[in-house]
Amino acid sequence: SLQPVILSGGSGTRLWPLSRQAYPKQFLPLTSDYTMLQETVRRLDGLTEEHPREAIGQLDPLVVCNEAHRFLVAEQFRVIGRDAARILLEPAGRNTAPALTLAAKVATESGEDPVLLVMPADHTIRDEEAFRAAVADAYLIAREGAVVTFGIVPGKPETGYGYIRQGAAYPMAGLANQAFALDEFVEKPDIPTAEAYLASGDYAWNSGIFVLKASVWLDLIERFRSDIVGAISDAFSSATLDGNFLRLDTDRFSACPSDSIDYAVMERLSSGKQASANLPTAVVIPLDVGWSDVGAWSALWEVRDQDAAGNVLDGDAFVHESADNLIVAQSRMVAAVGVSNLIVVETPDAVLVTTKDAAQDVKAVTQFLQSEQ
Ligand code: GDD
Ligand code: MG
Repeated sequence: SLQPVILSGGSGTRLWPLSRQAYPKQFLPLTSDYTMLQETVRRLDGLTEEHPREAIGQLDPLVVCNEAHRFLVAEQFRVIGRDAARILLEPAGRNTAPALTLAAKVATESGEDPVLLVMPADHTIRDEEAFRAAVADAYLIAREGAVVTFGIVPGKPETGYGYIRQGAAYPMAGLANQAFALDEFVEKPDIPTAEAYLASGDYAWNSGIFVLKASVWLDLIERFRSDIVGAISDAFSSATLDGNFLRLDTDRFSACPSDSIDYAVMERLSSGKQASANLPTAVVIPLDVGWSDVGAWSALWEVRDQDAAGNVLDGDAFVHESADNLIVAQSRMVAAVGVSNLIVVETPDAVLVTTKDAAQDVKAVTQFLQSEQ
């Protein structure tokens, strides 16, 4: 069976002032009437019906989030009829490797070993049907014990992503997509390295979505970061169930070291190292589905429908002789005259004005606000 695991612990600081600590971007309806968290679950609808030959039994999702967000998550799931989702509450953020380790522990608690579909809660995907076809393939491959990643055609030398070098075709019958060996995984390279990767044409971006059996993850993390497994096992042993919430002891969970799935495990899975180290096969499925992690306001402008002049207007916004702007007006009218490539985000208590080029630097605002506290 397939166990969706949704990682929902990020803070989305570059989408200030809409994304706040108490209300990060995954809980906002940024790309549709549904929030990004709701979209993450909803895009799996139909997976089982569309791919009956694979007999994919889809389990209710597991969500891992900060305990401060438990009611937001529960309410957003209730609204879309997913009351059965189990919500694992982290007392503090320890990045994605501990979060996935916790989810794998929960998924295997009753002796099962489902294939985990690990998904960030804050990504958008335009072609959902193609995405489901890729997930169905990944499920078949991961069922055999491999670790499956998804490769995105890179658009620029972005240093905030992981890079995957694609190797030989992965031989497996019955797949709808092509799959390849993963020859190298490099997380967040520096800019010269990212530029070289892009120029070579041999690298894809890592989507941040992973498919692997729960036991495979637990073996890998035990092998590379047994300290993380130790801390999470300790926290899990004293966890208490409160309805759909799994609560963890603050001190025990906080004792866990911080690390990401990418650094802790994925970087060590390159195919050259596998034969000698007896590691599971790592596979990459190219994903051409209109993927975006909506990492900044400029990315939101890209994924949203633009009018003939390239403007994206949200709320009571008026433009004249203006092109390629993103304007969000929540509580007042916002008018733009004779400007282009601007981002203007108006909320009741804060207004952001920046350019698309500088949109990555908006996190400076949240850093400043934190230093003021
Ligand atoms: N539960 C939980 N706890 N979730 C977390 C935590 C945590 O402590 N930290 C991050 N997350 C969630 C975020 O909400 C996000 O949905 C996902 O895990 C990935 O974390 P990011 O912090 O956004 O990772 P990244 O963007 O630096 O890098 C990852 O994603 C890129 C693509 O967007 C990596 O996988 C890269 O290789 C990849 O290219
Ligand atoms: Mg991210």
